Formats: sequence, structure tokens, C-alpha cells
Amino acid sequence: MLSILASSLLASLAVAQQIGTFTPEVHPPITYQTCTTFGGCATHKGSVTLDANYRWLHTARQTCNPAGFNKTLCPDADTCAETCALDGADYAGTYGVTTNGSALHLLFGNGGARVYLLDDTDNYVNFHVMNQEFTFDVNVSNVPCAYNGALYFSEMPSDGGISATNKAGAAYGTGYCDAQCPTGINFVNGTVRVISAYSPTNFDGTLGSCCNEMDLWEANSLSTQLTPHPCNVTGEFICTGTGCSDLCDSAGCEFNPFRMGNEAFYGPGDVVDTTKVMTVVTQFITDNNRASGTLSSIRRFYVQDGKVIPNSMVNLSGLPKVNSITSDYCTAKMNVLDDSTAFNVHGGLAHMGHSLARGAVLVFSLWDDLGGGMTWLDGLAGDASQPGTLRGPCTAANVASNPASSVTFSNIRVGDINSTFSQVHFGQCGGEFYEGPALCTDPFQCVYSNPYYSQCL
Ligand SMILES: *[C@@H]1O[C@H](CO)[C@@H](O)[C@H](O)[C@H]1NC(C)=O
Ligand SMILES: *[C@@H]1O[C@H](CO)[C@@H](O)[C@H](O)[C@H]1NC(C)=O
Ligand SMILES: *[C@@H]1O[C@H](CO)[C@@H](O)[C@H](O)[C@H]1NC(C)=O
Ligand SMILES: *[C@@H]1O[C@H](CO)[C@@H](O)[C@H](O)[C@H]1NC(C)=O
Ligand SMILES: *[C@@H]1O[C@H](CO)[C@@H](O)[C@H](O)[C@H]1NC(C)=O
Ligand SMILES: *[C@@H]1O[C@H](CO)[C@@H](O)[C@H](O)[C@H]1NC(C)=O
Ligand SMILES: *[C@@H]1O[C@H](CO)[C@@H](O)[C@H](O)[C@H]1NC(C)=O
Repeated sequence: MLSILASSLLASLAVAQQIGTFTPEVHPPITYQTCTTFGGCATHKGSVTLDANYRWLHTARQTCNPAGFNKTLCPDADTCAETCALDGADYAGTYGVTTNGSALHLLFGNGGARVYLLDDTDNYVNFHVMNQEFTFDVNVSNVPCAYNGALYFSEMPSDGGISATNKAGAAYGTGYCDAQCPTGINFVNGTVRVISAYSPTNFDGTLGSCCNEMDLWEANSLSTQLTPHPCNVTGEFICTGTGCSDLCDSAGCEFNPFRMGNEAFYGPGDVVDTTKVMTVVTQFITDNNRASGTLSSIRRFYVQDGKVIPNSMVNLSGLPKVNSITSDYCTAKMNVLDDSTAFNVHGGLAHMGHSLARGAVLVFSLWDDLGGGMTWLDGLAGDASQPGTLRGPCTAANVASNPASSVTFSNIRVGDINSTFSQVHFGQCGGEFYEGPALCTDPFQCVYSNPYYSQCL
């Protein structure tokens, strides 16, 4: 095995981030659906792939980055890319990643995982959600305080940035970027981050990878957030040092029901009961009801036990009484709650919409922050005497290591507004002030009863 790998490396003259062969790469398969109002839903076969940074990066005999990069193995970017290989992943055993049909299960285990949705050509699925809705089911019952089971979009290259210097590509989970402009990525665009074409003398890992990010779901069983993070960049943008600051809105304009004054909306036994599986619907509404329009609001519904639950209304004085993310909501939040102005500085919802119109890659992850706690999601983030600083019920006393934590995402579907979820028998499907789906689950039909009420019968 070792000699085969060694000779294949020697035979490879191209300067490129290599593919290792100790563990065969077998992507866990998963299905997802695309839906239209009149055509119903079509099922697609895809798979997930583990992010490159979680993989073993090695030469024939040695790990390239045992504790930071080994300067003997990686004296310069070309040598490093030539000698280091990204290996296949033991998904279930090492990373706790398993799939079954349309479901993805992430078990935290040794440190969680981050995976991306691939299509049947080993490229990332490129989602276009403007004037569309994106829906999934999630089981958060086993995600405790300070853990985050996340599902989000990043404007990553759909081929993972495959190039002359990156042979691995999307199949090996390369090309990650997000609105935090992370600097810890081993290979950025096929160049090892420590000595790079972008910054030849940089051996401290400050090469960053920035892009627009739309967090559909950052949640545990106690708290949840929906957050657009616009950036001033298009696609993946590689930055160095101080050039990485202020390219993106790293805080984002989040909607967190608990923070917005509805402490009994989301949680165990609450209106949205986190002890049970729920369906999460996110709609990307545009100003002209077309994909070409400007993003004007991001709406959220939950469906649980066959009942559609509209998102909670903002319940903080000085803020508009809305239950979706709009420009007015984000601006008022900055003014009243003293939130960062970065959202508007980076173009706000309109900019987020431009990114979503170009397309986005779907990311799933399970991670923890036991040191700091995840107070930005589930606890006290700020001065307790100020409004809107409590984002969830978690305190330091609730934070504990829990390797058995897990999250399951399933039934991923995307399509026309109102096409991915429907009402069950006897559910409401129309009427003035009603905002839920107008469709009924087969074989029921939406029957008009009066101006305020239509029902699935
Ligand atoms: C770095 O690589 C060199 C050459 O293969 C090796 O001798 C050395 O032990 C490695 N250092 C670490 C910290 O692994
Ligand atoms: C996979 O899902 C099917 C149908 O939901 C279920 O019957 C089966 O037990 C599951 N398999 C595993 C290994 O969880
Ligand atoms: C949700 O997850 C929990 C914890 O993993 C599990 O015990 C439970 O069976 C799951 N619920 C459903 C409906 O699959
Ligand atoms: C990645 O590198 C290629 C050259 O190999 C270059 O053409 C491309 O613009 C780079 N991408 C980014 C995002 O910098
Ligand atoms: C981002 O773009 C906005 C205009 O869209 C501009 O006002 C702002 O200065 C830019 N920020 C950076 C860091 O370039
Ligand atoms: C709205 O806030 C008030 C005052 O804090 C509180 O009494 C009320 O229960 C909240 N409403 C909801 C739906 O949470
Ligand atoms: C979706 O359904 C809601 C409630 O029935 C309705 O108000 C809205 O116009 C529908 N949108 C589309 C695009 O069908």
C-alpha cells in the first residue's frame, strides 16, 4: 500500500494537491427533491462529501500537518501541493456521518464534521433559491447547549476549485468559504495556505477564504437562528492578513425567536417542539415575484404534526412587528438593539439576493464551542440590562461535553413558493390573513368555506 502510494506520487509530475488512496472515498448517498407548483416533486440521487480540512493530509509516510504544516515537507507551495495528498474518509467510523435514503445523520463523536451536497457528477449541487423555497426536516432533540447542528448556503465554487493545482476538487470537499473569511483552511484554491502564491512569505496561516453565506439553520434544541451574511465579494475571494477584514458581514442580520421576545416559541415542549421532528420552510421572496427580482424578504414556516406554524412575531418595542427578515427589520435592529451596521454596509438583503441568484452550495455541519459557549446562538450575548441580549436559555452551567450529540436532516427539497409543503386532512389552506401553504396533501382538495377560511377536505 505504502509503495503503491509512493510510486504514484513520484510518477505524478504535475504540481497539484494530490488524492490519497489509503481509504477509498465512498460518498454516502442521499436523495433530494426539486418541486414545481404544477409538476409535483422529482427525486434526485446525490451524495455528501466531507470537507477537505477534516481529511488526513499526508505524504507516503507522514502527515503533512501534524501540528501546523511541517516545513520540511512543505518548504514552499509547489512542493507541498506535490507531496501532500488528501485521503478518502471513513465516514461512519471516524466522522460519525451516515445516510439513509433522504436522511443525513451527523454524530458529534470526536469533533463533528462538515459535509457538502454533491450531485451525481461529483460537483456540488448549485442551488438557485430566489423566488423559491427551501425545505428540510430536522431532528434537533439530541443537540444540547453550545452545540450547533447547521444547514446553510455558501457561495463556493461548484467544482470545489478543481484546477492544475487542485486535483482533488469537490469530490474531496475542497473550496470552502464563508462570511467569517476562515483562515484555517489547509489548501486555498490549490495553494497551501502557509506559503502561497498569494503571499509567498506567509507562514502563519492568515490566507482567508471569503464568500456570501446564508444560514438557513443554526440551531440546537434550545435556540435557532436564520441569518443572511452578505459580502462585498463575488464567488470565493481569497484574502491575506488585514485584507480579510470587513469584506463580509460576519454577524449577519439574524432572526432568533427567543432574542426577538418569544421565549416560549422554540424549545422542548414549546410552540415548535424540539423534542419532535419538524419541517423547516424558508422562502426567498423577491420584489417582482420572479427569480430576477431583488430579495425583499426571507420568510420562515415550521410544520409539525401536520400543522403549519408561522414564524413568531417580533415582540420587542421599537422593532417592526414582522415574522420575516426584511430590510426594515434589519435596520431597526441595528438602531434599537445597537447591532452591527455591517449588514447594510455590505449591501443588505439586496446583496444577499445577488449572491443567491448566482447560486449556492449546501453545507451541513455539527460543531461545538465548549470554551466560549455558543452564546451568540443560545445564551447571553451582551449586557443583560439591555434589550435583546438574551438569545436563548443556555448558561455556562448547561455547557458540557457530549460526544453522543447528533442531528438528523432529511427530505431536502427546493422549488416554487408553496410547492414543497402542504396541508394534511382538515388543515387550513386559505383565507384572509392566512399565510400557510395553499396546497393539500393528496388526495385532499382545498375547499372554500368563507372569506376567512378554506380547508383541506
Ligand atoms: C517533518 O518532516 C521531516 C521529513 O520527513 C521529518 O523528519 C520530521 O520528523 C517531521 N516533523 C514532524 C513534527 O512531524
Ligand atoms: C433507513 O430508513 C428506513 C425507512 O425510513 C428504515 O426502515 C430503516 O430502518 C433505516 N435504516 C437504518 C440503518 O437506519
Ligand atoms: C430523533 O432523534 C432522537 C435522538 O437521536 C431519536 O431518539 C429519535 O428516535 C429521533 N426521532 C425520530 C422521529 O426519528
Ligand atoms: C484560483 O487559481 C486559479 C489559477 O490556478 C485562478 O485562475 C483563479 O482565479 C483562482 N481563484 C480564486 C478564487 O482566486
Ligand atoms: C462594501 O461595499 C459597499 C457598497 O456596496 C461600500 O460602501 C463599502 O465600503 C464596501 N466595503 C468594503 C470593505 O469594501
Ligand atoms: C411578548 O413580550 C411580553 C413582554 O415581555 C410578554 O409578556 C409576552 O409573553 C410576549 N409574547 C410572546 C408571544 O411571547
Ligand atoms: C403561497 O401561499 C400563501 C398562502 O396561501 C399565499 O398568500 C401566497 O400568495 C402563495 N404564494 C405563491 C407564490 O403561490
